[in-house]
Amino acid sequence: MFHVKHLHHHKKVYMREIRYIELVFVSSYYKFICYNGLVSGQIIAIVNQKGGVGKTTTSINLSSFLGEMGHKVLLVDFDPQANATSGIGLRGDQIKKHSYHLLDSNQDVSEVLYPTPFQNLHILPATQDLAGAEVELSNMVSRETILKDRLRPLLDYYDYIIIDCAPSLGLLTVNALCAAHQCLIPVQCEYYALEGIAGLLKTLELVKGGLNPMLRIIGIVLTMYDSRTSLNRQVIDNARAYFKGLVFDSVIPRNIRLAEAPSHGLPILLYSASSTGSLAYSNLAKEFIQRVQ
Ligand SMILES: Nc1ncnc2c1ncn2[C@@H]1O[C@H](COP(=O)(O)OP(=O)(O)O)[C@@H](O)[C@H]1O
Ligand SMILES: [Mg+2]
Repeated sequence: MFHVKHLHHHKKVYMREIRYIELVFVSSYYKFICYNGLVSGQIIAIVNQKGGVGKTTTSINLSSFLGEMGHKVLLVDFDPQANATSGIGLRGDQIKKHSYHLLDSNQDVSEVLYPTPFQNLHILPATQDLAGAEVELSNMVSRETILKDRLRPLLDYYDYIIIDCAPSLGLLTVNALCAAHQCLIPVQCEYYALEGIAGLLKTLELVKGGLNPMLRIIGIVLTMYDSRTSLNRQVIDNARAYFKGLVFDSVIPRNIRLAEAPSHGLPILLYSASSTGSLAYSNLAKEFIQRVQ
């Protein structure tokens, strides 16, 4: 017993020496810091089982603002509707390998990563094929942690991996929640929105209780706010009263520019940089950085 422990200890020291040598000879200072956990990337799942609440809009625009700020970002489309993929301007005929292929452990992950025309932003696209993954996953060993196993090594190259989740709490989303360090919850400013969150929080607790004890909620972002209706104002007040500091200060307004941008394959900062929607997502990105570590 003692002997084994001893060996284990030596192995650890040995690993540390390799890292030191790497630092000196490869001058890969950044990598050294990453490996030693002083600075490390984070995986963030954008999640809400309701559709149409702004998950994809938030995924695309948060990712692109983080990229503009100088962070290396990978946007992962993990929704069979593939709206993040088309929204960033990637066409179906340009995609050979996509998130569905991650299920195959022999798949070279570098083949599913695509550059985008936008600063520091890569995409791991989806196609409708991903819908089949839900069924296939249910028959696989370690079916909840396959995405985690494939994405975590990529944190050597990316500061942030943002996962745009499907509007369900099925195995695809559970995979995203297992892969993630933190999740971000977009909530539409409408009367029933807060009721839906209770169910989501229960699922998050289940995942935390078993598969991913370190999972945290980075925050709730209120979306599609319409200042002309007092009901919207009320939803914000209720959300802040109930979830307190969990709610981001930045509220995303309902803004036609945000809705138009995806059909041009552009993030808002390039489609309409001076719009209220762009300003709001820029502020959200800054707040995100303050909260993330
Ligand atoms: N702040 C906003 N203002 C106006 N339209 C928005 C806003 N956020 C999202 N939308 C539009 O609402 C629809 C649903 O948003 P989306 O981000 O696709 O939600 P989800 O990914 O949660 O289904 C899309 O057509 C999108 O363009
Ligand atoms: Mg979506």
